[in-house]
Amino acid sequence: MKTGSWTVVLLAVTTVALCSPLINELEPGQEWPKRGSVKQPQDESEDEETSPEKISPSEPESEIPGEIKEEISLLAREAENVKVDYSGAQLWKVSTEKTGVRATLGRLRRRNLISTWAGNQTYMDILIKSNAVQNVTRIMKRENITYDIIIEDLQKRINEENPPLDENEIELQDRRGHRMTWKQYHRLEDIHGFMDYLAKTYPKIVSVNTIGKSYEGRDLKVLRISDGKPTNKAVFIDGGFHAREWISPATVTYIINQIAENFDEESDDIKNIDWYMLPVVNPDGYEYTHLTDRLWRKNRRPSISRQCIGADLNRNFGYRWGGRGSSSNPCSDIYRGSRAFSEPESRAVSDFIKTSTANFTAYLSYHSYGQYLLYPWGYDTAVPPDHNDLDFVGKRIAAAIETTGGSKYTVGCSSRVLYPASGGSDDWAKGQGIKYAYTIELSDTGRYGFILPTSYIEPVGRESLAGIRVLASELNKP
Ligand code: ARG
Ligand code: ZN
Repeated sequence: MKTGSWTVVLLAVTTVALCSPLINELEPGQEWPKRGSVKQPQDESEDEETSPEKISPSEPESEIPGEIKEEISLLAREAENVKVDYSGAQLWKVSTEKTGVRATLGRLRRRNLISTWAGNQTYMDILIKSNAVQNVTRIMKRENITYDIIIEDLQKRINEENPPLDENEIELQDRRGHRMTWKQYHRLEDIHGFMDYLAKTYPKIVSVNTIGKSYEGRDLKVLRISDGKPTNKAVFIDGGFHAREWISPATVTYIINQIAENFDEESDDIKNIDWYMLPVVNPDGYEYTHLTDRLWRKNRRPSISRQCIGADLNRNFGYRWGGRGSSSNPCSDIYRGSRAFSEPESRAVSDFIKTSTANFTAYLSYHSYGQYLLYPWGYDTAVPPDHNDLDFVGKRIAAAIETTGGSKYTVGCSSRVLYPASGGSDDWAKGQGIKYAYTIELSDTGRYGFILPTSYIEPVGRESLAGIRVLASELNKP
């Protein structure tokens, strides 16, 4: 091995200016190479356009008594191990095209009567707390704001969302060597067990690495699928940034399963890529949504003042951190954290990508919901110089999704199609020079929202895999 790694270093030094970085010289299954051990050409070059990160000073933490109260009661509930009950809470779709609607919704949100699920320039999906339904209904009538009630009783939907597996499935589970299925939303333990199983079963192509720990100490596990060819490009795929978006880890594991289990029969396009996949970026939040609050979004780190819990990991990345669409209020669902990469989970992802020698040319982050394929920039309404390439490939991916399963995805620059939001992982990845950086908002478009029935897992997985295949073929074009 000693001589092997020396060869790598020498070759790398002599070919820096001529060829693409030497990666994957190691045998599959061995330690993944890190930068520093293998010199990377791009270590020297700094992209004028993307390197200076503007970090604005964080504003003082504002107080929202209502939310603090709620957080305290949440903590009490957790201590008693009682689940948050959404009986009587409703999901409304509100058109925001009339002037004044946004302002009204903003006021309701500040009074903690509603919270935002999704939305873009034209509509918003809002959750009405059960004890606020009457009040909010009155306000909407008074202000002449029209809306549709999408979900009458959220708790009912939550209760029906993730039924236990039937006997047959349980028996299969016991025989397979892992407990993962795509007929149910699984706990973290099953997801990690499945990843370890693949590494054990296919040691030549699959390996698993813990790239760090969450705030509460859970593993951040990345699975790599690679045949070890030194010419391979690399793709990083993650999911589970936001705890309540359960379809996301389910989809990433679906993709992992399809590629790992059938690797020998896969197309050259798939085999010519090193796949790095992190299904659950936010394991603490994910477990919390299973155990206590189905609608939790952020991680589980208490703010410095201990005022509220959790930072939005997709507002915590160090590219234009602190700008539009993020909050300095620790009680907000889009709290950006105390500084860029203040959270162990976002830091682990960025450290891993930065120090890896893999030749990352695409970064995909799976979220839900809304069916969007979004590319940078997210921080403000601007696009990168190569936005036409991102748009072209994005549209090809969307077309493949539609032919496969019929779902229509809207493709575009995220700050325009959705809303400006700074500190996102996609912007950061793009800033690192990873060309094809996308955030993919999976199904649906709002009928079920986050509480997507398990019968959607396989169709969404199938569509997403079709999109991945198109991406792979685009990356393999000379
Ligand atoms: N729904 C995602 C979020 O709010 C969209 C992120 C899009 N990317 C971005 N950099 N704004 O986190
Ligand atoms: Zn999300």
